[in-house]
Amino acid sequence: MKIAIGSDHGGIHLKNYLKEYLQGKGWEVLDCGTYTEESCDYPDIAAKLCGEIAQGTVTQGILVCGTGLGMSIAANKCAGIRAAVVTDEYSAVKSKEHNNANVLCLGERVLGTGLAESLVDAWLKTEFAGGRHARRVGKIMDLGK
Ligand code: RB5
Repeated sequence: MKIAIGSDHGGIHLKNYLKEYLQGKGWEVLDCGTYTEESCDYPDIAAKLCGEIAQGTVTQGILVCGTGLGMSIAANKCAGIRAAVVTDEYSAVKSKEHNNANVLCLGERVLGTGLAESLVDAWLKTEFAGGRHARRVGKIMDLGK
């Protein structure tokens, strides 16, 4: 029950909100920053969180920026990362079930806190289905090698 979370300045309020939400549910949360509202660069935070996954400190993480887009683009450049930006529950479920997403990306300027909670809950409770999806995810991971 350990997860990493991170944001830039555009996602810091939702990041802090979700950190408390997850801690309240018993998760140990590794906060990869940012820690102030001062403007910062989302690729730096994405790299830090994805580095924790690469090192095995955690197996999954949540990244928040204004839209979730910059974080997902940055995270998907990192080795071993499958990041999905979602705004609806169905996609949150499928991103884990079919794509085995190990990073969930959310947009603070897009989502309310209630929807963000639902997306996080849906993603965390869903298991990767494996089977034919494992073959496809394997092919994704081979891209760019
Ligand atoms: C920061 O203003 C904003 O660009 C960032 O949070 C994110 O939305 C980028 O994709």
